[in-house]
Amino acid sequence: MDLYEHQARELFEEHGIVVPRAEVTDSPRQAREIARRLGGRVVVKAQVRTGGRGKAGGVGLAADPAAAELTARRILGMDIKGHTVGTVMLAQPVDIEEEFYVSYVLDRAAGCFLAIASAEGGMDIEEVAATRPEAVARVPVDPAEGVTSATAARIAEAAGLPPQTVDVLVRLWEVLVREDALLVEVNPLARTRDGRITALDGKVTLDDNATFRQARWGTEHSTHHDPLEAAAAAKGIDYVKLDGEVGIIGNGAGLVMSTLDVVAGRGARPANFLDIGGGASAQVMADGLSVVLSDPSVKSVLVNVFGGITACDAVADGIVRALDTVRLTKPLVVRLDGNNAARGRAVLDAYAHPLVEQATTMDGAAERAARLATTP
Ligand SMILES: Nc1ncnc2c1ncn2[C@@H]1O[C@H](COP(=O)(O)OP(=O)(O)O)[C@@H](O)[C@H]1O
Ligand SMILES: [Mg+2]
Repeated sequence: MDLYEHQARELFEEHGIVVPRAEVTDSPRQAREIARRLGGRVVVKAQVRTGGRGKAGGVGLAADPAAAELTARRILGMDIKGHTVGTVMLAQPVDIEEEFYVSYVLDRAAGCFLAIASAEGGMDIEEVAATRPEAVARVPVDPAEGVTSATAARIAEAAGLPPQTVDVLVRLWEVLVREDALLVEVNPLARTRDGRITALDGKVTLDDNATFRQARWGTEHSTHHDPLEAAAAAKGIDYVKLDGEVGIIGNGAGLVMSTLDVVAGRGARPANFLDIGGGASAQVMADGLSVVLSDPSVKSVLVNVFGGITACDAVADGIVRALDTVRLTKPLVVRLDGNNAARGRAVLDAYAHPLVEQATTMDGAAERAARLATTP
């Protein structure tokens, strides 16, 4: 889950990183008041969870409170890469001498964190990375050791950053660890005319697995942009929306991913990933089915369950009870195998719903669901 810039700014400030004074509002009139409090001249910044706001016109300098109100009025409601601007942050402007880029990111493949830093920060860091990768330093960080002053000094040196940035690099690492972040990024980290190092823009991605420890952000920062994903998340279901037409429900992430592959191998495209998990109760099945069926691009649904601790007859009961509450509007292909598969199949046979059919193998089930989804 990504935080807004103003939330990242708040965290930086708490960890002793210098940031400009700033306030947030959703009203142009209040923007005028805030600008007055901040000294008149302000930078007005769209608060959306995406980068490139400057280039999109979502960052504006206002010379006085009246201009701040106008700029806020212009930016509020703007669309930036599909994100509607609901709030703006007004910040004190700083005199920028140089702009740097610094970030820590989890490198899953290497099993460590990576410090990425460049003396050429600002709005075009992606371009710098693409055209002149040597200008971007990448320094592995041992998660157990963390970023000590010595590590920070190495990062700064590798990227050609001035020694005053060492302290910020250490504090930024503290933000990552203490706040359970997977990514912290400052771009630009500015050196001002008077020689101070200030974080002018921040991005923080928190680890969803640590939500229970980071209650202050609530669920407001949920990264589920898709309404179906948001609905599934609200029910505690692992659901990812995809572009296809075969709805998929399975138990266990590995089996579900294999099911997506097998469906794709049969010439259809999966409409989603949905893992009902180990304890697949009737309620979970009902919730899962209702999410999948409310996707208008779904033409058929494939339920692929390998009974383990949760036996297939319990899953079949779950499907039957789910169909009491969810009206089935599309064909449902069910493949049950593993623990108590025969009893599970008998339950569904006895239920004899006209839109429910069974397959005995995963391949057969995928073939059937793909055909149902692709033949008009
Ligand atoms: N408080 C500020 N004072 C002066 N310039 C700023 C300030 N905040 C941002 N800027 C300038 O605006 C540019 C873009 O803003 P930024 O917050 O980085 O948004 P984004 O990365 O989404 O484009 C920065 O590179 C910086 O040059
Ligand atoms: Mg930026």
